[in-house]
Amino acid sequence: MDEAIRLEGVSVRFGGYRALETVSLVVPAGAFVAVIGPNGAGKSTLLQVLLGLIRPSRGRVWLFGRPPEQVPPEWIGYVPQFKTLDRSFPALAIELVVSGMRRRWPGRILARERESALAALARVRGEGLAEKPLARLSGGELQRVYLARALVRRPRLLLLDEPATGMDVLGEADMYRLLEAYRDETGATILMITHDWEAAYHHATRVLVLNRRVIGFGPPERALTDECLRRAFGHVGHEHALAFHPERRDG
Ligand SMILES: Nc1ncnc2c1ncn2[C@@H]1O[C@H](COP(=O)(O)OP(=O)(O)OP(=O)(O)O)[C@@H](O)[C@H]1O
Ligand SMILES: [Mg+2]
Repeated sequence: MDEAIRLEGVSVRFGGYRALETVSLVVPAGAFVAVIGPNGAGKSTLLQVLLGLIRPSRGRVWLFGRPPEQVPPEWIGYVPQFKTLDRSFPALAIELVVSGMRRRWPGRILARERESALAALARVRGEGLAEKPLARLSGGELQRVYLARALVRRPRLLLLDEPATGMDVLGEADMYRLLEAYRDETGATILMITHDWEAAYHHATRVLVLNRRVIGFGPPERALTDECLRRAFGHVGHEHALAFHPERRDG
């Protein structure tokens, strides 16, 4: 089986603070992994490590058998948690998508870039957004444009940091459908951070429960146990009890 991601004993320190502690993990190619854990659990830090932006203080990382810094950038699509872009910047949605194909902001968009960007926007059902100024996009629309930006080079690994933020319920359901379709079609691996346990349960092939350490990793029904959730979050939420124990609904 091909490996998309391998971490061996990865620890990350910020000054004296340990954000990740001896994380070991193997993700087979083609998996759809949902990463869940409380605020400050090191989820975004894990993505930064995979992107090669943070060097672990200990341990080793491989993506498709290579160290992150040797992975061709077009192999990875990334949707960041925080969009640092100034939205009043006078730019169009299509330029943001094309910026995913270049290392810098595009001056003039080439015909083939436009074609790829429009295809990526169509994939996220954002055809109509191409010529819209960023300032006029709703929060959910901006998320779609970022997703198109991540998909534009048809990456084999998608790293998504809370991609559903700001999307309405239908938009969210749509997003999971398109992620699953993309994965089926290309065999890509998806790693998605989410606070939505139910989405993790229904859409992921594997769930990583993280709280600085790996608390659980496996098929959703084996990772999303009360025991793992209690260890990660300190309690089991009401919603979780409802979602995974339907017999309690009337009780
Ligand atoms: N560059 C940094 N310098 C110092 N501390 C950092 C840095 N980045 C993250 N941290 C700390 O590391 C911890 C983990 O942060 P991280 O952003 O990975 O959490 P998270 O699981 O993504 O949380 P959230 O659900 O709130 O997004 C936090 O306590 C954070 O304050
Ligand atoms: Mg985060």
